[in-house]
Amino acid sequence: MKQKLEKIRSEALSRVAQAASLQELEEARVVYLGKKGELTAILKQMGGLSPEERPAMGQLANEVRTAIGDGIAQRRQQLEKQELESRLSAESIDVTLPGKDPRIGRLHPLKRVQDEVSEIFLGMGFDVVDGPEVELDLYNFEMLNIPKGHPARDTQDTFYIDDNIVLRTQTSPMQVRTMLERKPPIRIIAPGRCYRSDTPDATHSPVFHQIEGMAIDKGITMADLKGTLEIFAKKLYGPDTRVRFRPHHFPFTEPSAEMDGTCFRCGGKGCRFCKGEGWIEILGCGMIHPKVLRDCGIDPEVYSGWAFGMGLDRLTMFRYDIDDIRLLFENDLRFLRQI
Ligand code: DAH
Repeated sequence: MKQKLEKIRSEALSRVAQAASLQELEEARVVYLGKKGELTAILKQMGGLSPEERPAMGQLANEVRTAIGDGIAQRRQQLEKQELESRLSAESIDVTLPGKDPRIGRLHPLKRVQDEVSEIFLGMGFDVVDGPEVELDLYNFEMLNIPKGHPARDTQDTFYIDDNIVLRTQTSPMQVRTMLERKPPIRIIAPGRCYRSDTPDATHSPVFHQIEGMAIDKGITMADLKGTLEIFAKKLYGPDTRVRFRPHHFPFTEPSAEMDGTCFRCGGKGCRFCKGEGWIEILGCGMIHPKVLRDCGIDPEVYSGWAFGMGLDRLTMFRYDIDDIRLLFENDLRFLRQI
């Protein structure tokens, strides 16, 4: 019996020492000290001992029980401390760690350039007006002096909804809409999407963007047009920018011109960007044709005005050094994030 008790003591103590969790420790306690445990089983055999042996065995059994009990208590303390520590370190917050950056969206490059241009004209007293992309043939062509069969329609072939409704090929119908709605003095710009049935390549896209501008009042002259657009170019490309006006033809303006600005890269010396020219075409413009004014209910004997139309996509491509217009419409985030 003595050997058995010693064996229980050493087995129990080593199992207690090895218990890796409070649960394992409790299992060990049940096995050795529990009501159906090994020690209890031995104690039940005490009755079979001789009266001489009994006290010594009793004492030993008590020692073993106490030793195992103490071992368990000690191990429990250790395990509780360990568990507390691991919980504390798992749940701790390191306030010195850098936070996670929330991903913030931003405006599309086209929209940014559109806003920049709009700001410049807003600062000069222009209003921003908005109009439909699905437009009457009447406003997109007819009332701009481009009747059916006019050669200008060839260069602006578009998508027809029916014989009278088209996807607008330019923002110029906003001139008509504004004149029909407002009385002079009028100073507006109208940014927006336009369509032409062009085959996409690096410089053409069936969807693109323009900004239209128009000023009508008594006594407005070509000098106002040149002055306003020169200020615009200097604000957009910097104070050293110079502009030049070349004669051109648009059916709804007379006289008509195209405006170039000195290349914003080389300042006019000639570089890869301006293809050695020193100049970059910025917009088309002119004095509003008297017939257009009259058709829109404005008396050309009393009022005069100018208008311009500008491609926003090209402007954006210059601004951000983009060499293919299609990149603006593919919405590939790998591209957009670079800007
Ligand atoms: N809408 C013309 C185009 O797309 C550009 C233009 C030229 C607009 C002269 C105008 C203008 O308002 O006066 O080519």
